[in-house]
Amino acid sequence: MDHFRLIDGELHAEDVPLSRIAAEVGTPVYVYSRATLERHARVFREGLAPIVEQGGPEPLIAFAVKSNPNLAVLRVLAREGYGADVVSGGELVRALAAGMPAERIVFSGVGKTRAELQLGLDRRIGQFNIESSEEGRELAALADGQGLTAQATLRINPDVDAKTHAKISTGKAENKFGIPLIRARETFAELAALGGLHLRGVAVHIGSQLLDLEPLETAFAKVGQLVADLRADGHTITHVDLGGGLGVPYRAGENPPSPADYGAMVARVTRDWGVHLAFEPGRVIAGNAGVLLTRVVRVKRGGNGPPFVIVDAAMNDLARPALYGAWHDFDAVRPSGERMTANVVGPICETGDTFATDRDCDALQSGDLAVFRTAGAYGATMASSYNSRGFVAETMVDGARYAVVADRIAADVIMDAERVPDFLQD
Ligand code: LLP
Repeated sequence: MDHFRLIDGELHAEDVPLSRIAAEVGTPVYVYSRATLERHARVFREGLAPIVEQGGPEPLIAFAVKSNPNLAVLRVLAREGYGADVVSGGELVRALAAGMPAERIVFSGVGKTRAELQLGLDRRIGQFNIESSEEGRELAALADGQGLTAQATLRINPDVDAKTHAKISTGKAENKFGIPLIRARETFAELAALGGLHLRGVAVHIGSQLLDLEPLETAFAKVGQLVADLRADGHTITHVDLGGGLGVPYRAGENPPSPADYGAMVARVTRDWGVHLAFEPGRVIAGNAGVLLTRVVRVKRGGNGPPFVIVDAAMNDLARPALYGAWHDFDAVRPSGERMTANVVGPICETGDTFATDRDCDALQSGDLAVFRTAGAYGATMASSYNSRGFVAETMVDGARYAVVADRIAADVIMDAERVPDFLQD
């Protein structure tokens, strides 16, 4: 459930009419709903309640910053008690700037540089999720040399098919992530023996936009077996990070498992583990908490197909349709009740700049406002300035008020960072 709904015939974010934001901030612009973010944060936490009810410690919920790194969004989640799952120094700095306590930050990613590892050590983050023995040795040496001990887990690759889009699947043997299960025990033993590292558990994340609990349960069961094996090897295992991945409904008929179903499954599978659990949800928190608001530039007659509804948002602002063929509902801000079939496209000079093909949608004409829904996760953060279009603005609504939470970065500001060198001046 989200807080984008029609009031008196106009789509509102909470109590703010979207036409007001379009008039005052311009389009395209992302609009986030604070109440929706808070609701999702609470529903996810409540979904995990069975873990606590069966005697487990309060889990750490580390929001996957990559899904929406906007400072205001992170602040909302920090106030809900969330930590952060970060995958770069940039995300780490953001999470701290937003008020997330360092001990609630986990650092994932296969390619953490030495400087990023050092930053994590300097800021005393709660956990490094190590993805290779090479990374583990580097982190251990770095920490040991400074008299520090890095808290860490070993991320394993369970070789499970998450049954999601190939580009966002991360837990199959051929994916670059984690340590293959068959090498996990020897790698754990190798790294656990090193000074500078407190290897206290394992981590897993098999993919994103999962619409089925079964692959998750298979992966978690493998983790459970590994925890038992590691204990049998003499290691003390106190922490397990189960990653993110829970899907959201992008279109009618898509029914992802609820956080309650997910929490019940996790509680059942992890009942005897006796560990601190961590979770890294991104999309399920932020996805339906945002829309991309856009204006129709013009409607162009089609060739041998439906008309092209050309909007002022493009693949540089919302990359998911071009990148993954992803579906985003497309609705008029003031629906007339009439419908049309359209190809919804942006202005960029690539055929891939297509949001929807042969889409049954509200009838629209030049100047009308419309939204792409479920754009709060992996939306603005994946923007680029392709075609010198600048970076899209972001706003957050809170009841009857709203604020610009990221300025539009105009093309000429980006150009200001470029220069023509001396050798081209003559
Ligand atoms: N933890 C790790 C280690 C991850 O790699 C990811 C996502 C998450 C947590 C959060 O997953 P979520 O709960 O959001 O599913 N750009 C793509 C999604 C890429 C996801 C990458 N990793 C998209 O737009 O669909």
